[in-house]
Amino acid sequence: MKIAVLAGDGIGPEIVAQAVKVLRALAGDGLRLELEDAPFGGAGYEAYGDPLPEPTLRLSRAADAVLCGAVGGPKYDGLPRVQRPEQGILRIRRELGLFANLRPAVLFPELAGASTLRPDVVSGLDLMIVRELTGDIYFGEPRGRRTNARNEREGFDTMLYSEPEIRRIAEVGFATAMKRGRKLCSVDKENVLETSRLWREVVSDVARKYPQVALSHMYVDNAAMQLVRSPRQFDVIVTGNLFGDILSDEASMLTGSIGMLPSASLGERAKGLYEPAHGSAPDIAGRNLANPLATILSSAMMLRYTFNQDEAARRIEGAVKRVLGQGCRTADIHEAGKKRLGTAEMGDAVVAALRQ
Ligand code: IPM
Ligand code: MG
Repeated sequence: MKIAVLAGDGIGPEIVAQAVKVLRALAGDGLRLELEDAPFGGAGYEAYGDPLPEPTLRLSRAADAVLCGAVGGPKYDGLPRVQRPEQGILRIRRELGLFANLRPAVLFPELAGASTLRPDVVSGLDLMIVRELTGDIYFGEPRGRRTNARNEREGFDTMLYSEPEIRRIAEVGFATAMKRGRKLCSVDKENVLETSRLWREVVSDVARKYPQVALSHMYVDNAAMQLVRSPRQFDVIVTGNLFGDILSDEASMLTGSIGMLPSASLGERAKGLYEPAHGSAPDIAGRNLANPLATILSSAMMLRYTFNQDEAARRIEGAVKRVLGQGCRTADIHEAGKKRLGTAEMGDAVVAALRQ
């Protein structure tokens, strides 16, 4: 298993180190691992003046899977857009053709009290957001800045989806629903946007191939509201890049903390990029405070989706569940009466639980 490790910025290196620890612990148990690090994001900019340096892209292309931490930081906020760390993650998704982003929001029962929502609202939560990742307003052209006829500055972006782009992500949505509760909710803004009108038409067309899946459509504003009102109504949500970005952050809080939400970005083949859904948290970087569980759970997704090692993936998820059961908590999910651990100690606890 060849894995490119792109730790990135902020808390990236600390949390990735914990996932690597966990993977290595499993490797001792029969999985063969080959890990290689490369600079990425702000670190890529520091080393090569480019958030996705050529050697990093080459390594990522050659690897079976890519494990990412997070990118970005206030230090880089003033850079031109092409040099900003975020461009590294956007470009690598695009270069590797990783159009399907799976973001599962699962509530570990042990964390029911850590959510800002009432336990009776979130308990039993298990939903999957399928976010399109290489299209939409993130990549649509034209985009830019200009001065209009009244001499006012304007900024503009283009929301754009082609039919094949919608079709292939809809397929992932339906296939995902088939393996779960067979309910798919497609989220759009069809009452306002042309892009969404086409989206809804194409998703409805793909639905004819999947008569066993109950398809519903929901406007994104309503979906944002329903996610906090009664999140358990959802099984699989399929949506575009921008709406998926926003809704997945929202959904993460149902699970107690954004520090718990892993993600897999997949293309046509098994190759994938795995990263926590959260950012680089510069405010707590380097202080051993960050929650590494989203990254550890992302490595479980890697074993499942790229390496077909469902058993090993379940062992990691089981170990995470066990440490939570033992009362281990990082600061973001801490409650009175629980054991507060640092980033590295949480990684160690998961490794220890793997051995139990
Ligand atoms: C995410 C992040 C990225 C995105 C940023 C860092 C570009 O928010 O993975 O959700 O918007 O896709
Ligand atoms: Mg985001």
